Amino acid sequence: MDSFEFNKIAGAFLLALLTTTVIGYAGNALVHPVKLEKNAFVIDTTAVAAAPAGGAAPAAAPKPDPISPLLAAASADAGKTVAQRQCASCHSFEKGGRNAVGPNLWNVIAAQKGRVEGFKYSPAIQASARQAGDDGKWTYENVNAFLVNPKAYMNGTLMAFAGLRSAQDRANLIAYLRGQADSPAALP
Ligand code: HEC
Repeated sequence: MDSFEFNKIAGAFLLALLTTTVIGYAGNALVHPVKLEKNAFVIDTTAVAAAPAGGAAPAAAPKPDPISPLLAAASADAGKTVAQRQCASCHSFEKGGRNAVGPNLWNVIAAQKGRVEGFKYSPAIQASARQAGDDGKWTYENVNAFLVNPKAYMNGTLMAFAGLRSAQDRANLIAYLRGQADSPAALP
């Protein structure tokens, strides 16, 4: 390429650059773009801001409807089927049963949370167990709330289970759990 050719190319390039710049300025001068004072779409971030930072006290989970009214008519047999389908991959239920991914669940109703010696519970369940009175125990209602959505009830629990949506399934399951005990807790 001789230098004349090069000058032509460079000149064309500079001219293109100049034209775009001039057009840009001219455009702005003609149209006067106005900057919005605030966003046209307001994104509500208050819910996010209100959520606790990791490790802070868990936000109160929405309380499910009480399960107690359903327990009297619940079927422990149907509950056993639910337990075998949904829980048995991680839990055993019989007396002296082994701990698996989750602890053995014999005698769990009305017992203190995190009660199985030698099972490595999460700090979340240990902290929950230290609460005073019924809050530290697996009452019917606490088990119910846990089973609706384990992570919502207990932020940081190791129980990787999405939750049991059907109240009837939960009532049957809890009736079955109640029976897996030396002396079943009184019905509420
Ligand atoms: C994917 C495995 C897994 C499944 C499925 C599962 N669990 Fe768990 N479960 C765990 C683990 C792990 C823990 C211990 C949680 C912790 O330490 O935070 C636990 C804890 C529990 C506890 C507390 C026990 C205690 O000693 O305090 C109960 C009650 C319980 N599970 C019931 C159930 C029921 C009922 C089902 C079926 C609907 C179920 N789990 C399904 C893994 C599982």
